[in-house]
This record gives sequence, C-alpha cells and structure tokens, in this order.
Amino acid sequence: MPPTVDLTDLDMWAQGVPYGEFARLRREAPVAWFAEAPPNSGFWSVHRYPDIVAASRDVATFSSARGISFEEPTDEDMAARRTIIDTDPPEHTKLRKIVSGSFTQRAVAVYQHFVEGLTEEVLNIGLADGEFDFVDAVAKEVPIRVLARIMGLPGADLDTFIDLGDRLIANTDPEITDVVWGRDDTDAYRRYPFRSPYGKQLWDLGRTIVRDRLAGPGDDLLSTLLRAEVDGDRLSETDLDNFFSILVIAGNETTRIAIAQGVLAFCEHPEQWDRLRADPGLLDTATEEVLRWSCPTHFMRRTATADTELGGAAIGAGDKVVLWYVSGNRDGAEFDDAEAFDVGRSPNRHLSFGRGGPHLCLGAHLARLEVRIVLAALARRVARFELAGPPRRIRSNFTNGLRELPVRARRA
Ligand code: HEM
Repeated sequence: MPPTVDLTDLDMWAQGVPYGEFARLRREAPVAWFAEAPPNSGFWSVHRYPDIVAASRDVATFSSARGISFEEPTDEDMAARRTIIDTDPPEHTKLRKIVSGSFTQRAVAVYQHFVEGLTEEVLNIGLADGEFDFVDAVAKEVPIRVLARIMGLPGADLDTFIDLGDRLIANTDPEITDVVWGRDDTDAYRRYPFRSPYGKQLWDLGRTIVRDRLAGPGDDLLSTLLRAEVDGDRLSETDLDNFFSILVIAGNETTRIAIAQGVLAFCEHPEQWDRLRADPGLLDTATEEVLRWSCPTHFMRRTATADTELGGAAIGAGDKVVLWYVSGNRDGAEFDDAEAFDVGRSPNRHLSFGRGGPHLCLGAHLARLEVRIVLAALARRVARFELAGPPRRIRSNFTNGLRELPVRARRA
C-alpha cells in the first residue's frame, strides 16, 4: 500500500507531529518506501517499536557512516563533517571512549547541586506573574549553562551558542535562519555542519575557545578532548571542530525541547500536574514520561550496507532507512495505553535517546538529571500551568522544537 502522507512535508510538521498518520502506518505499512524530491533518492520509513530497536542494534547492516539526516552528503562532505554520531564501530568505539567517562550516571551526579542552584536562579527571574514565553524565560536558559559548566565554555559566548544552535537545528525554518536547507542553494556550505554557514561560525567560535584552553587546560570536557589520543594520535583539528559542535548542539537544543514540551504536556493534562505535585515520588517516572512524550529528536537515519529484510520489507544495499523514534514511542505493542500521558508509567522503555545500539545518547543521564530537577522545582512553585496562546513549533521533521510557548503559571 503506498503511503498517503508526505513525511518530508515540513509545513505539515510545523502544525504538529502527524501521530494519526504514524498510527496508520504502524498498522498498515510498518516499513514503507517513501519517494523524495531530487537530489534525494527516497527512504525506507520504519514505524514500529521492535523494528526500530532491531535496526539500531544491527550496526553492521544499518550504518551511521552516511549521516543521520535525510541529506545525502558526498564522501568529501562526510569526511569534513563527520562527528561521533556519523561513525560505525570500531571508529565509533574509540571516539566514544574519550567522552563516555564524563557522562556516566555517577559522573553527572556531581552536577546535581549546580543544576539545582542554576534552576532556582533561572526560575527566580523567569517565572513571571501573568503571561510569559516559557521557552525564552526558562527552557532555553538551563541546558546551555549546564553544558557551559561541563565543557568550560565562556559565559560571554552563551547567547551566541544558543543562536547558532537554533540556526543549525532549525536549518529548515525560514523564520529562524536565512539559509534554508531544501529552499536555498546551500552547495557552498556542503562541508559544514547542517550544510549551513552557521556551522562554520560554530567551528570558528570553538577554535577560539580551544586556543585559549590549550594555554590553560583544566578538568573540563574540552580539556579532556584536547588531551585525548586515538591509536596514539591526538584528535585532528577537524575531529575537534566536529566533537565540539556535536556536544554543543546535541546537549542544548534537545534538553530544552524536553523541558518545554513537558510543560506543554502539563498544560494539556493538568490532572497529571496535580498528581505529580501531590506525590514527588513520581518524579523519576514523570521524567521518563516527559521524555517519551516529547521525543525531542523525531528520527535517526541509517543506511543499509547490504540487501536485508526489516519488518517484511526488502531493503537494498545503499538504501536510506529512517527510524522514527517519535512513532515507536506511541506503539501500543510496547506501551500500554500509549496515547495517554501518564506520569506514573512503568516500565517506560522509550526511544527518545535511541535504544539497543552503541549510539544511545551520550548525554542521557545528564538530560534526565536536568529534566528531573527542573520538573521538581516547577512542581514546588507552580500550582497550575495554562496555555496563554498557541505554541509555535519549529518547521522541521527532525526536531520537536518549540519556538514559543506562551503560558500563565499560577503560583503555588
Ligand atoms: C532530552 C535530551 C536529549 C535527547 C532527547 C537526546 C537524543 C539523542 C539521540 C536520539 C541520539 C542518537 C541515538 C541513536 O542513534 O540511537 C543522541 C546521541 C547523542 N547525544 Fe543526545 N539527547 C539529549 C541530550 C543530550 C545531552 C545533554 C548531551 C550532552 C552533551 C547529548 C549528547 C549526545 C551525543 C554526543 C550523541 C552521539 C552519541 C554517539 O554517537 O555515540 N545529548 N542523543
């Protein structure tokens, strides 16, 4: 059965996630072929939870080395832009080893007090009486400051990081960036992150910070990268550019989205907010449910290395394969009452950080810590969140980002 929805229609995504279409696709076309406009070549679209996990696990057949978005970069583009997320083992294993120690549950627990203090500061300023934009006042403030602390980024550059990150993650939204992928001729930027001139700006900013850090290394994550060796060699300038940019982008936007989408979910399900406030013992399950529900990264793409079969579809070597985590997160075969937002849900093996494969989000423990602390602080201070206007979504099928979330917060 040919798919009737166009999952590359970004104006559709700007209106909302097509959950109804995904439910139909899970039932009728669990793994379906979608054509794409040239220069892209089309993709296999994977909708069911078990197929997504199976493909994530089988990295020999479903490779990350051709990139994780819809874009089809050349070998040269890929060589310039490749980050840890675009590698396969054994290269991936070596890169991951450099940073994994900094992101274990125990390593990130060290930041608990820092994140709590930061959250209080942000809420003291951001939680205005009356109506305000929750994204601008709260959600965007916490993750970048946590990242700055871990990586040792200068405070003066944080607004620039936020701005560049927005322009990269939302590289398909003309209201956020003036160089729009899919609309403008981006050939000149093929070798930069997100095929954007702002990717180059992020690299340049990173290089300035690296230069200063080389003069005065410390115990921050950037110094760890500068000291690291792979097979006896230090990381190249290209490796450093790319490591720097993926950490800044992956750690900032995603967590912001989870926090903002979480508050939107509580605006729409006030009884779940009452439940969480009445029983702080639900904080851990509420955090996981916010992550499942918000699914900040809708998909990851793989590329088949050989002819194979997945969910009844015959996939050819070289085909793009898109794993829709946002669909798997609502799969009734895995989640009881999957369409319900339930802060007590357990078990909750959501796909928002990926699942089953080696690329499982590096920052998952850190993101959980941040979301849990922000939820806890909000639950103490806010009796009720209400929408004060329609949320404005980013025009993207990759990220579930909100540009604006107008709310009213009634104080506890
Ligand atoms: C709610 C917040 C977050 C979400 C939803 C999220 C989501 C994801 C997803 C879906 C992946 C790919 C997994 C896969 O391929 O199966 C990923 C990878 C990654 N994430 Fe996160 N992420 C979040 C926060 C963070 C934070 C705070 C950091 C910290 C710097 C981070 C750094 C990374 C990195 C470096 C990778 C690549 C890992 C690899 O290739 O081995 N993420 N993340």
